[in-house]
Amino acid sequence: MTHAPLKQAPLWDGLILGPALATLAGDTGYGAIADGALGWRDGRIMFAGARSGLPDAPDALAREVFRGDGWITPGLVDCHTHVVFAGDRAVEFEQRLQGASYEDIARAGGGILSTVRAVRAASEDALLAQSLPRAQALLRDGVTTLEIKSGYGLDEDNERKMLRVARRIGETLGIEVRTTYLAAHALPPEYSGSEPAGRADAYIDAVIDWLPRLHGEGLVDAVDAFCESIGFSPTQTRRVFEAARALGLPVKLHADQLSDLGGAALAAEFGGLSADHIEHSSEAGVQAMAAHGTVAVLLPGAFHVLRETKLPPLDLLRAHGVPMAVATDCNPGTSPLLSLRQAMQLACTHFKLTPEEALRGATVHGARALGLHDRGRLQVGQRADFVHWRIGQPADLCYWLGGELAQAVYAGGRQPA
Ligand code: NIG
Ligand code: FE
Repeated sequence: MTHAPLKQAPLWDGLILGPALATLAGDTGYGAIADGALGWRDGRIMFAGARSGLPDAPDALAREVFRGDGWITPGLVDCHTHVVFAGDRAVEFEQRLQGASYEDIARAGGGILSTVRAVRAASEDALLAQSLPRAQALLRDGVTTLEIKSGYGLDEDNERKMLRVARRIGETLGIEVRTTYLAAHALPPEYSGSEPAGRADAYIDAVIDWLPRLHGEGLVDAVDAFCESIGFSPTQTRRVFEAARALGLPVKLHADQLSDLGGAALAAEFGGLSADHIEHSSEAGVQAMAAHGTVAVLLPGAFHVLRETKLPPLDLLRAHGVPMAVATDCNPGTSPLLSLRQAMQLACTHFKLTPEEALRGATVHGARALGLHDRGRLQVGQRADFVHWRIGQPADLCYWLGGELAQAVYAGGRQPA
């Protein structure tokens, strides 16, 4: 009698042996595993554990086997950026050093509006050419999922151009880009005039009008607004959120960055994925975030560059169990920051996050701030997004300022461009 050959499970695409793993598997601690093994196939993690626990000889398991030391962490998730822009604002940096405030510069027609002029003047290809190196820099330091906002176009065609460039960055680099529609970022010149408040309402009408078309073109994953005295009021923000909700789009918010307008609670009321900045949020805002599962996105780059002194309500966030993400907020005005690892460093030095909180903030909590649950931990079934670092301990990621610590970055099981 003949036997049918045993059906062989397909080999894994790759297997790395030897580095320690920071799996972040539980709710606390690094989930550290010494002398680890990480195997993946078809973009998913097949094994993440101790090398001694592998089910077979490495060569029988994977087509390619690598050996090394150092540490492997989940791929970093930068959940709040404005990397698509043209030009720069180094002049404003110098003005602020001479005493001008961010709000002064904005009210004088600089700030966000200066970048709007540069973005409108750039072709889509030129905008891509200027923005791509920034995304590449983030990727080289470990970012495998990148959120990118619009908000420097402020008319339908230029918002579309920005969102298209964001998508093209993801396609070009082979990392996942999540787009956020932020047309409610500033009042464009066409709407500024003698009756600013009334004109702002008319602009919000336009923002709401453009959204379904851009969403229909597959360009929008979430909706954001700048709720601030130099941005839009809570009432105007609410209207934008209602439009997002009608389309089934999740919301997030630039909330309580410079003053407390109740932005954190407003984002939470709409089941927001995140409330971002939140330096001035009250305890009621934090409680609302806890009740609705809204993530706090900490942006220490903007805090640092603007030389802010008001800290986000860190103890309240911890006390109420609000997950804290950390992101670069990479933008030409308040945070020209091209490394999420550097943002983690700033979160530790300015906000006294522990290195473990900072790593969770840049992985599992960052993913959650984008509504993503398939990444951010090294676990079987998660996306094979991970970084192999030349470090002796996870705290090194926050300890070094600068440097090239990533020896290999994998997104969906592949080393991106
Ligand atoms: O997240 N605060 C509003 N938006 C950005 C800054 C944008 C800019 O100044 O260009 C921020 O800090
Ligand atoms: Fe921002």
